[in-house]
Amino acid sequence: MIAIGCDHAGFNVKQKIMEHLTEKGYEYKDYGTYDLCSCDYPDYALKVANAVAKHECEKGIIVCGTGIGVSIVANKVKGIRCAHCTDTFSAKACREHNDANIITFGDRISGIGVILDCVDLFLTTDFAGGRHSKRVDKIKQIEDENFK
Ligand code: RB5
Repeated sequence: MIAIGCDHAGFNVKQKIMEHLTEKGYEYKDYGTYDLCSCDYPDYALKVANAVAKHECEKGIIVCGTGIGVSIVANKVKGIRCAHCTDTFSAKACREHNDANIITFGDRISGIGVILDCVDLFLTTDFAGGRHSKRVDKIKQIEDENFK
């Protein structure tokens, strides 16, 4: 199950990503927002991040105007490794190297073609493990020391 969310600035892209997920056969849960009315991105980024952190969903996708605000929020949640991506190399690398479990996009930054290619790579690329495991373990150690 994929958790997906957005603010008003990411609403149109979220709709297109959901259509894409359906076409590809992925199940998703839509955590809102559900219209173009102005809202606060932390509220929706937190819903997606909590769903992934609690293992209710395996991965998350969040969209706002830049992709930055929602990534900052998601990375405040213990267990989340969120990557703001604007290119396909990063979308693949964030899975292989960082074991990212949430990806974010900016509707005002990236075209829908790049975004959907990034979604596909994010969902199909495995964590490479090996030398990267030690580094991700260090991230977890930092979380243990700094999160309540
Ligand atoms: C909304 O105007 C905008 O600030 C928001 O979507 C996002 O870009 C924040 O990081």
